Amino acid sequence: GGGRVVVVGSINVDLFARVARHPLPGETVLGGDGSTRPGGKGANQAVAAALAGAAVVMVGCVGDDAQAEVGVSLLRRAGVDLTRVREVAGSPTGLALITVSDAGENSIIVISGANAKVGHDDVADLDLTADDVVVVQGEIPVDVVDATVAGARRAGARVVVNLAPVVDLDPATLRAADPLVVNEHEALAAARTLGAVADGPDGPDGPDAAAPVDTAAAARLAEDLVAVGVASVVITLGGAGAVVAAPDTLSFTCDGEKVDVVDTTGAGDCFVGTLAAELAAGGDLRSSAERGNTAGAKAVQGRGAQESYDWEEKP
Ligand code: RIB
Ligand code: NA
Repeated sequence: GGGRVVVVGSINVDLFARVARHPLPGETVLGGDGSTRPGGKGANQAVAAALAGAAVVMVGCVGDDAQAEVGVSLLRRAGVDLTRVREVAGSPTGLALITVSDAGENSIIVISGANAKVGHDDVADLDLTADDVVVVQGEIPVDVVDATVAGARRAGARVVVNLAPVVDLDPATLRAADPLVVNEHEALAAARTLGAVADGPDGPDGPDAAAPVDTAAAARLAEDLVAVGVASVVITLGGAGAVVAAPDTLSFTCDGEKVDVVDTTGAGDCFVGTLAAELAAGGDLRSSAERGNTAGAKAVQGRGAQESYDWEEKP
């Protein structure tokens, strides 16, 4: 234990609209709670890891606009090391348009902006050690994610891969994931990439009618992913908790918690960041997944992403 959490990923500003229900194509609805909040899957995970007690380094890019300061504001308050966050001239800070329904369900459009400029130079010398835990997701260029994971493995660091959103990562990146943290749809996409399940009738990117529908089916899919070489797998199931699979251990379940869902935005990121912090502190996969699960259940009970995490110990 005692390693750092190094998050390589996106920094966004989230523009929220609260609606009774999501508009249909061509429809206009009136919304409430138009608000601007710090977000981005990478930044969310970094904040969660810091709030869980880890020393965290954020690697990423913001634009040279006023939104950049919003994007890093809670990273800074959480005590995340921002020396590897680069400002890109002439580029806007990443922006996410998020609509949240009264049922707490969101839909998100991400406009990458400066996140698309994260490059190989940004991840070339991260000074990693075998104690560090490196966390990646899918909101920066995929070749940079692959290079980050390859570099981390060369340094002997542990890698947590969150395949969100689903992007075409190198199979070697998916296999190095320890764990791969995915929801049921992302799990199916990874399984198709690795040949663990057949493509759907519409090819690898088609609708995922075969996504697991219950805990037992998710556990089987997690085991299938381990069988094709993924180091370990966590499939998050929203209110139903999570299932975990690794070689040489029986798959197990983290129970869901019954909570009032206000906004699920960034709850998965909270799970990932908290899990990474616990791994960096020397926790095993079980305690790390349990802690991530508990943190994620708290996050769905408040509005926004980072603001809904557990700030109790921080100013
Ligand atoms: O996972 C939630 C995040 O996805 C939001 O904060 C938004 O920025 C998008 O990246
Ligand atoms: Na939330």
